[in-house]
Amino acid sequence: MKNPLVSISILNANFLNLEQEIKKAQNIGIKWLHFDVMDGHFVPNISFGAPILSSISQKFKLFNDVHLMISDPAKYYMDFVKAGADSITFHLESLKSEDEVVNLVNLIKKENVKVGISIKPNTDVKQLLPFLNLIDLVLVMSVEPGFGGQKFMDNALDKIEFLSKYKDENSLQYLIEVDGGINNITYKKCASKGVDVCVIGSYLFKSEDMKKSYELLME
Ligand code: DX5
Ligand code: ZN
Repeated sequence: MKNPLVSISILNANFLNLEQEIKKAQNIGIKWLHFDVMDGHFVPNISFGAPILSSISQKFKLFNDVHLMISDPAKYYMDFVKAGADSITFHLESLKSEDEVVNLVNLIKKENVKVGISIKPNTDVKQLLPFLNLIDLVLVMSVEPGFGGQKFMDNALDKIEFLSKYKDENSLQYLIEVDGGINNITYKKCASKGVDVCVIGSYLFKSEDMKKSYELLME
C-alpha cells in the first residue's frame, strides 16, 4: 500500500509566523500546500483570499492546492489562477446544474490549472459520476467544511473506496483526496481504501514535533 501524499492545510498554521511554518513543512518533505478559502456564506467561517496565496506562491515552489469553500466559485476562480494556484477545487453543492459544473471545469482547465470537485459529508458520491471523466481530482470531505481540528467522519472511507474502484474499472486518472480530521490513525485507514492525497492541518501544525508526527504517518 503506497503512502498518500500530504497536502498541508495552512488554516491552522500560526499566521504570525506563516513563512517559518511553511518552511518547516517544506523541510520535512511536504510538497503540497492546501488553501482552505472560506467566504462565511457557503461555510460559517471566513479564512483568507488570493492575496495570501500570491505572497506565498512568490516565495515557495510548492504545489498550491486551492480548496474553494465559497458560494460563487465561477466568480472568483480566476483570482486564484492569477495568484499561483496549481489546482482549484470547488464544491459540487455550490453550483445549481450539471451544465454549470461542466462549464466551470472547462474554464479552469483552460487556464492550465488542475481542476477538482469536492463533496460534503452528506452528499452522495454518485452525484460526481457525470464529471469523473473530466476532472483531475476529487476531494472527499471527512468533516463538515468550515473549521480545522474536527473529528474524522468514517463515511468518507466508503466514498474513497467507491471512487478508487470506479477509477480502476473505468481507467480514469483523477486523484482521490480526503480532507478533515486526518491523523496517524485515519491516514492509514484512508490509505487502505486507495486515497492518493491527505489534507492535514492541526495534526501537523499543532504538534510538538512536526517532523516526528509526519514520520509517524509514513511508518
Ligand atoms: C475544513 C478544512 C479542514 C482543514 C484540515 O473546512 O478543509 O478540514 O483543511 O483541518 P484538520 O486537519 O485540522 O482537520
Ligand atoms: Zn480543505
